[in-house]
Amino acid sequence: MRRVIFNQKGGVGKSTITCNLAAISADKGLRTLVVDLDPQSNATQYLLGRNATNFKPTITEYFDQVLQFHFSASAANQFIHATSFKNLYILPASPELESLLNSLENRQKIYKLRSLLDKVDHFDNIFIDTPPAMNYFTQSALIATDTCLIPFDCDLFSRNAIYHLFRGVTDIREKYNADLRVEGVIVNQYQPGAALPRRLVNELSNEGLPMISTFLTSSIKIRESHDAALPMIHFARYHKVTLEFLRIFQTLQTNEITQPDAFRTVDVTEMIKDKGELEVEV
Ligand SMILES: Nc1ncnc2c1ncn2[C@@H]1O[C@H](COP(=O)(O)OP(=O)(O)OP(=O)(O)O)[C@@H](O)[C@H]1O
Ligand SMILES: [Mg+2]
Repeated sequence: MRRVIFNQKGGVGKSTITCNLAAISADKGLRTLVVDLDPQSNATQYLLGRNATNFKPTITEYFDQVLQFHFSASAANQFIHATSFKNLYILPASPELESLLNSLENRQKIYKLRSLLDKVDHFDNIFIDTPPAMNYFTQSALIATDTCLIPFDCDLFSRNAIYHLFRGVTDIREKYNADLRVEGVIVNQYQPGAALPRRLVNELSNEGLPMISTFLTSSIKIRESHDAALPMIHFARYHKVTLEFLRIFQTLQTNEITQPDAFRTVDVTEMIKDKGELEVEV
């Protein structure tokens, strides 16, 4: 199963959610891959720590080879590196990835991530972290994936932007990836005592968005786990936020296995059509 964690808004928790769900997946014995598609390389640093720059070749070298027509399909696995966590692998990014963006966009290499993931050895779960933009990298990820998870940070601007985000996903689905589904919205940095987050989440839920029912609360432990380069399951196994990540992971896995056609794989086009005044331009 391939999942993209996507939101054009910066700092909503994409890299944090990617790495923590992936670490839990691996901890449960599933062969798991994190793909870092963001030149900021935050997921790479979170999982590889201070030695991150030693792990080469990265996705940057892959796209560079694609642009120079040097890529050989038999070499696909060379871009995948084992982390220090059992069953957890990474296709890392590097800051130089940014410099390839224009060339990749101009040359229309939009299926190249998908074709790489089709060629590497089997993984039970692949989690793809994306940059805060709707650009070549995010589009490639949405084309390469089965589903999309959307972090929502309980902010008014995010609430207003979320339908545009769904529209972007729908466009990709119509043009390139007919099987693409939005699996769910993951509420992050939820403050149970505050009125605004509760109101915003209720509004999204009432409007029919597929909200994942376990919310991630805000905790300094998450920042500390970034600093220690240890995902929460390894940094603080019994912490409240770790248990929230575990519940979210179980929700995703269980529904994938027992109800493949139901639950949070929503038909976005139908959903937007039903929204009347909330409909965004096509
Ligand atoms: N639940 C949380 N509690 C406390 N801090 C959090 C939580 N989730 C994320 N953060 C912090 O918020 C910051 C942004 O998180 P993260 O880097 O995961 O977001 P992002 O969406 O990947 O950002 P970008 O768009 O820049 O890639 C980080 O410093 C992270 O530690
Ligand atoms: Mg990030």
